[in-house]
Amino acid sequence: MSDHLSAATLAVWGGETGAPIQNPTQVPVVYSAAFGYPDVDAWLDAATGRRPGHIYSRNTNPTVAVLEEKVRLLERAEAATSFASGMAAISNTLLTLLSPGDRVVSIQDTYGGTHKTLTEILPRLGMSVELCETADQGGIEAAIARGCRVVLLESPTNPTLKIVDIARLAAAAHRGGATVVTDNTFATPINQNPLGLGSDLVVHSATKFLGGHGDALGGVVCGSADLVERVFHFREITGACLDPMAAYLLIRGMKTLALRVRQQNESALKIARWLQGQAAVTGVFYPGLEAHPQHDIARAQMRGFGGVLSFQLRGGFESAKRVLPRLNLAHRAANLGAVETIAGTPATTSHVECTPEERRAMGIPEGLVRYSVGIEDSDDLIADLAQALSAA
Ligand SMILES: Cc1ncc(COP(=O)(O)O)c(C=O)c1O
Repeated sequence: MSDHLSAATLAVWGGETGAPIQNPTQVPVVYSAAFGYPDVDAWLDAATGRRPGHIYSRNTNPTVAVLEEKVRLLERAEAATSFASGMAAISNTLLTLLSPGDRVVSIQDTYGGTHKTLTEILPRLGMSVELCETADQGGIEAAIARGCRVVLLESPTNPTLKIVDIARLAAAAHRGGATVVTDNTFATPINQNPLGLGSDLVVHSATKFLGGHGDALGGVVCGSADLVERVFHFREITGACLDPMAAYLLIRGMKTLALRVRQQNESALKIARWLQGQAAVTGVFYPGLEAHPQHDIARAQMRGFGGVLSFQLRGGFESAKRVLPRLNLAHRAANLGAVETIAGTPATTSHVECTPEERRAMGIPEGLVRYSVGIEDSDDLIADLAQALSAA
């Protein structure tokens, strides 16, 4: 570039000619709202999909595309698209698939934000929703058989760790022509692939185990090319796209997904078994325990049981208020799936949006502690829990 140009012009264009990136080994964060083309024909080819190329980052972005491809491959899907958060992924997917007058069948035990979407937002838009008892697979099947457009599942559920039989319910849904959407956030693609069990779409809060470091929000939807194209189209118009920096952090986190989740599976099972023997604890909720009511279904559809467990304290909510501050090796925070252990109560985490009455109606005990196991040494975590429980 000629240095005879004025300072104002050099400040804008200087150093930016040619390809700015030479073969980095790591995925670059591409912060560009739009992508430029030398002429209208090349631009038109990219815009109409005749040639690969990005146009505008609300639609597609090179960094974000790498994350989508990584999750697509792990979920063994034809296509994937991403969102600004897990809730954006869930709500946009539902709004893509549903129209006024449609009926949705789901379960009582979904994540609080999902529950609110189902009970507040969809009915306001003219859709009806039936929420079934999560453990009653026959009951859910019967509700599906009464006719619906969408079946929304989550397994394991947040925070009660119930399991639904994805293959059985997907078969029921397909008999009536309904589309099945499964939230796979708790299991991760390392432990479970809902598409292989018959689900049509799988959704993730990438904020949790996929990213794994508690530093970025994101959501991903995977499934057939046709369905994902419809969800993508809805998102490119309504705009809840993933930020490239968040995509970069999620990509970096995902490189260790398999290692982290294997460790978290192992530690969570060991801690759940240990908690079963503690006097202060009246119930342990973890699908890997033989005593879990849906353990057989979990064994059939999961390769590991995940890094989150919940336990109920004999002394209820007051007891949880005494125990939680004593934990030295846990964040008390509204998140899960990170390398650090995170503990909380449903009232302050997954179901903060719900009233105590709503939580009770959903079968969530107030004295429940949700414990997301990190990658710390499991004996250290058990020792920490032991000293904290002595205050129960
Ligand atoms: C199972 C499940 N689905 C969806 C979400 C929502 O994800 P996000 O917080 O990324 O919007 C959460 C959040 O905790 C969750 O636990």
